[in-house]
Amino acid sequence: MRNLAVLTSGGDAPGMNAAIRAVVRTGLSHGLTVWGVYQGFSGLIEGNFKRLGVRDVGGIIQRGGTILGSARCAEFQTAEGRELAIHRMRGAGIDGLIVIGGNGSQTGSHALHQMGFPVVGIASTIDNDLCGSDGTIGVDTALNVALNAIDNLKVTASSHQRTLLVEVMGRKCGYLALMAGVAGGAEAVVLPELEVVPEQLATLIQGAYERGKPHVIVVVAEGAKYNADGLCRYFKDHGLLPGYEFRSTVLGYVQRGAVPTCADRLLGTRLGAEAVEQIVGGNKGVLVGIKHGDISMTPLEEVVNEQKPLDPWFLKMADLLAR
Ligand code: F6P
Repeated sequence: MRNLAVLTSGGDAPGMNAAIRAVVRTGLSHGLTVWGVYQGFSGLIEGNFKRLGVRDVGGIIQRGGTILGSARCAEFQTAEGRELAIHRMRGAGIDGLIVIGGNGSQTGSHALHQMGFPVVGIASTIDNDLCGSDGTIGVDTALNVALNAIDNLKVTASSHQRTLLVEVMGRKCGYLALMAGVAGGAEAVVLPELEVVPEQLATLIQGAYERGKPHVIVVVAEGAKYNADGLCRYFKDHGLLPGYEFRSTVLGYVQRGAVPTCADRLLGTRLGAEAVEQIVGGNKGVLVGIKHGDISMTPLEEVVNEQKPLDPWFLKMADLLAR
């Protein structure tokens, strides 16, 4: 291998820049020419590449987002789009690709691998919904943002004896909501993986006040059957929680744009460097992630179209510790 390309794809995640930096500098240390691809798979299709040197990735490890830009690319989901991408890479002499991204992005990596192009994925998404890795780049930062918000919301909720429903991201996965709920001491979590019955939630909220709580915090995953606004509307429309005040707060993109924590900078660095070692060593079609604290390699076919289950221990704790 002589020419290695790297791209970031899907939702950006704090720590992606650390991974890009590690890929570029490790690649250069192997004597490779390293190419940055701009705007994810769209950049592959358009041939939007730039050669990256050591200085091009200086001063980025502490920055959120991705210096390469990111995109969700519908054209890449077609065989024609992927063929064009491979054609562009071959035209530039690129003979290996590292894809930093989450579920959708690694589905793209898998498709390229199936078409015979050497590709290695790096597990990166704030959602932590990617099979083949216990953790992903960006999760720790997103959780810390959510926790800061929950800590602040709890203060004002207590002053006003209110119920605050805090919505966190995560697409169809409740990981962020569950972990933020446990670590933030929430009274309840609402997750896509569990059945949501608003009447039962209202009873739980009322019970918390009756046990003397000055506030109630409910962490709601955006992908749950009812989101935070939806639950507030339901309570109102069905006359639930009479005499109690409730409000919703949607954290949204705030969780994605933060300065990466130490954990995410280190994870990005480890996974970025290892992805290069793997592709240089001839290991292709794998996701580089982390399992039980160690770097892991998982074939991409075991990663795509799989649903990552939530840890039942944390599910139990979310319930037990909220008393
Ligand atoms: O996958 C990361 C994520 O932030 C999800 O939590 C969220 O549902 C989605 O991306 C938002 O996507 P977009 O940036 O396309 O609005």
